[in-house]
Amino acid sequence: MVGQQVVTINDMENEKLQEFLARIDRGEKIEADDWMPDDYRSQLIKLISMHGISEIMGALPEKEWVPKAPSLRRKLAIMAKVQDEMGHGQLLLRVAEDLLAPLGKTREDILNDLFTGKLKFHNVFHMEAPTWADAGVIGWLVDGAAIITQTMSLDTSYAPYSRALHRICAEEKFHAQHGESIVLALAEGTAEQRQMLQDAVNRWWPALLMFFGPPEDENISSNQRLNIRYQIRSQTNEELRQEFFNKYVPRIFHLGLTLPDETIHYNEQEGKWYYQQPDWESFKQIVKGNGPCSKERLQLRKVSYEEAKWVREALLGKTREIV
Ligand SMILES: [Fe+2]
Ligand SMILES: [Fe+2]
Repeated sequence: MVGQQVVTINDMENEKLQEFLARIDRGEKIEADDWMPDDYRSQLIKLISMHGISEIMGALPEKEWVPKAPSLRRKLAIMAKVQDEMGHGQLLLRVAEDLLAPLGKTREDILNDLFTGKLKFHNVFHMEAPTWADAGVIGWLVDGAAIITQTMSLDTSYAPYSRALHRICAEEKFHAQHGESIVLALAEGTAEQRQMLQDAVNRWWPALLMFFGPPEDENISSNQRLNIRYQIRSQTNEELRQEFFNKYVPRIFHLGLTLPDETIHYNEQEGKWYYQQPDWESFKQIVKGNGPCSKERLQLRKVSYEEAKWVREALLGKTREIV
């Protein structure tokens, strides 16, 4: 009797899953209150929380340059970019919290997972930004890399993520132009400015390669396979990295800059870039929170989260005791 009941429940679940897959195969989009398989929900939560938190953590290296930007125009532009990034984080956390709600979890849990190290943020935001050229390279190449990844997901099967990404990508294009404008000014500047730019490119290159995640062998990871089947993403890490090379390597060389990889080249016959792999062991360490700026940035986020507690409470209508 019990056995029969289990089979029946499994059959029902399987039928729902088949219906769900047929819906996304027809190009229909899934909304927050539609039925969805548990692993679809958990993959989305993982992806969108990480993306949202990375937007917020990504504002920190550039925020350091707001008071030090070389002119009022540059200061206004980088300040606007930092505000945009925080806004992207807020949009995405709202999408994530709708997915978390049926599991009894909240936005607070996402932030707590960040502080306990359970939720990782993007490797690039653990890195230092010691010069103004770093601010330019972040805008030009890190935002450029983000546009490639996010454009892939514009047509994702999960409608709320797709809607958020349409708005985010439109703003990211401005960020890339802002970065390019800083880079061009330095490339056309003095020998010292050109050197500062070259040093920043050298410093960011391995982190940019890591941005897309490790390359896949013939067997792509089960996570990627699942995300592709569920149409959460449509390209592999390596396909995205190759697209980044196609777009940016010729532009970097065109500015007379070099890359810290003498082996990088495009094979015409195979239609593919060959390049030196970054140290994937150090990538694991960086995302685990052992990067050059991981601890101080996490601490900064934690302090500002605690200091802004009264704002969240006021917005929720909670009263505080006046001492
Ligand atoms: Fe952003
Ligand atoms: Fe951006």
